[in-house]
Amino acid sequence: MKRAMSPELLGRPEVRVFPNLEDLSRQAASRFEELANRCIAEGRIFAAALSGGSTPRRLYQLLAGPPFSDRIPWRSIHLFQVDERCVPPDHADSNYRMVREALLTNGLVPEPNFHRMAAELPDRDAAARQYAEELARVLKPQASSDWPRLDLVLLGMGPDGHTASLFPGSAALDEQSRWVAPNYVEKLTSYRLTLTFPVLNAAAEIIFLVAGADKAEALRQVLDASSAAGKLPAQRIRPAQGQVRWYVDKAAARFL
Ligand code: 6PG
Repeated sequence: MKRAMSPELLGRPEVRVFPNLEDLSRQAASRFEELANRCIAEGRIFAAALSGGSTPRRLYQLLAGPPFSDRIPWRSIHLFQVDERCVPPDHADSNYRMVREALLTNGLVPEPNFHRMAAELPDRDAAARQYAEELARVLKPQASSDWPRLDLVLLGMGPDGHTASLFPGSAALDEQSRWVAPNYVEKLTSYRLTLTFPVLNAAAEIIFLVAGADKAEALRQVLDASSAAGKLPAQRIRPAQGQVRWYVDKAAARFL
């Protein structure tokens, strides 16, 4: 059922609507640059986790070229994956392949600073453990919590309200102890590896990048506080000490 968003929810400060994906991607690139330089100015590395799918590709391409590439301190940045399909890294469905082609080909990011999920390994539990250990090597869990604190997480959202590889009805939705988990996605009849809600919700900033009319109904539901809380996976992205921003295009925002 499609309906306009209830009036009290219009104008939520965290939602930014852009005319198109290009403008959305440029603004996201500026925010990435700003956060990265702020971390470096504070004497810290900048740790970001990147989603796959198609929406963020243009953002990654923008970051890989001037003016952004010249203004970002790549040597002090560590990039992680939010999730990965359980396919080889050169497979057409691989999120790593998309990120490599869009962002990594020009050598800006030092090899050791991109942390790939080895989701192609047959032992998916071992692959998940291995990735959690890699996160822990770079991001010491904070004293105040058991969870590593990413400075930025870039998320997408599917028309079903999934985010990362946390799909409606999938087992990993309930994962509260592991940082990374394998997840079988019934509708895709395939496995994924994904960061879990506790890690995502420990982040300092989360930016959802959402574009396209097919996302409009899910976006309306997710941003409608009056709708059943937590019904859709993306609604469960609520960092305790972090900021959530929604960068959406006009087509996805048509019910807001
Ligand atoms: C993935 C992503 C996934 C994605 C959404 C939106 O592995 O596919 O991590 O969560 O962000 O499915 O995908 P699009 O950007 O292609 O619409």
